[in-house]
Amino acid sequence: MINITIDGPSGAGKSTVAKSVAKRIGIMYLDTGALYRAFAYFSIKNGVDVNDENAVEMLLGAARIDVKHIGGEQRVFCDGLDVTPYIREHNISKAASDISKHQSVRVRLSEIQRKIAGERDVVLDGRDAGTFVLPNANYKFYLTANPEVRARRRYSELKEKGADVEYAKVLEDIKLRDYNDSNRAFAPLKQAPDARLIDSTDMSAQEVADIILQYVNG
Ligand code: DC
Repeated sequence: MINITIDGPSGAGKSTVAKSVAKRIGIMYLDTGALYRAFAYFSIKNGVDVNDENAVEMLLGAARIDVKHIGGEQRVFCDGLDVTPYIREHNISKAASDISKHQSVRVRLSEIQRKIAGERDVVLDGRDAGTFVLPNANYKFYLTANPEVRARRRYSELKEKGADVEYAKVLEDIKLRDYNDSNRAFAPLKQAPDARLIDSTDMSAQEVADIILQYVNG
């Protein structure tokens, strides 16, 4: 079984790189952020405050969360509802970061990731894939870039999708999420001691994917 983990802060290019690596070696890409986003969306839809740990836990206990790959696309279902189309909204990014601090949420969503990674070869991108979810993964990478460059990339992506956003606000959000993700008590964003650090500040996603593939292909 091949398990490749790519962790790092928001906007470092993890998903583009992970998708490219998965495609080039012909294995599955698992977007773990989509699980946190899906459950954050589902909580809001059910009137649950993502910061209210007890209410979140109650919903988590009752909710069925499934990940399916349909036509090469990952879809996340909560109680049978495909929530994938709704999880990229701007407010869901912050809600996902908030809900991800609860230990019960991390444990449950990590179990889902471990089950998938135990059944098939997979590239995962996340925050704690190499430290907590799959500490024994074959290949671990930690991808970062300076916050201004990450904000610039996110800003361009959002603009391309026609969103009405300001660069300064995107940068502020990135910094806030970095703080939240790195400072939560349970399984925070952190480089695993055995993960290779790649700084993509001056690199394209293609170049980063090439470096990862060099390691993986030995
Ligand atoms: O990677 P992303 O932007 O889709 O993730 C959204 C939020 O979900 C992120 O701010 C933190 C959280 N997250 C997490 O805590 N652990 C993961 N493995 C993936 C995402």
